[in-house]
Amino acid sequence: MKIAVLNGSPKKGNTAAMVDAFVQGAQEAGHEVEVLHVGKMKIAGCLGCEYCHGKGEGKCIQQDDMAKVMPAYLSADMIVYASPVYYFDVTAQLSAAMQRVYAIGKPAKAAKAALLLSSASPNPYSGPIAVYQNMIGYLGMEDKGIITAAGDENGSEAKLEEIRNFAKGL
Ligand SMILES: Cc1cc2nc3c(=O)[nH]c(=O)nc-3n(C[C@H](O)[C@H](O)[C@H](O)COP(=O)(O)O)c2cc1C
Repeated sequence: MKIAVLNGSPKKGNTAAMVDAFVQGAQEAGHEVEVLHVGKMKIAGCLGCEYCHGKGEGKCIQQDDMAKVMPAYLSADMIVYASPVYYFDVTAQLSAAMQRVYAIGKPAKAAKAALLLSSASPNPYSGPIAVYQNMIGYLGMEDKGIITAAGDENGSEAKLEEIRNFAKGL
């Protein structure tokens, strides 16, 4: 299947290591994977102007890097959201990219989703997990798994192997 990974980290760090392990496993299993570095993109928040639902016919009035993400929303069978935890949430960039799906209603083909979260402290995940679960439920996607890496788990071979195996099993 076609998998789009939305990496919300603005740097090549712990989340990128999780994403790389995911990509390795998924590709070994024969999936086609595209990583979108939304953390490095300029993606503004939704204006709620409803242009997309009227005159825009599914297109956002804002012209920014969301144009690079939208093709993946339209073609992927699975969306993987990956982010460092920033103040008990995903990054603002990933949050904006998640909410801007409003323009098209829901990812056109995506029936599956997963969440990868990296943090410094042991358990700051309740907020982003709740948003993810509510969001994919609303969008009609099935959760295939949530993997977190806290503190020293980041970059550890055990965690990367867990992620590779998870992706291989999809
Ligand atoms: C602005 C900011 C806010 C953060 N907030 C949290 C937090 O609320 N809880 C936590 O455990 N770690 C927090 N962290 C630490 C990162 O989640 C952690 O270092 C993560 O592994 C970074 O991933 P990255 O290398 O992909 O950017 C924060 C880091 C930054 C820069």
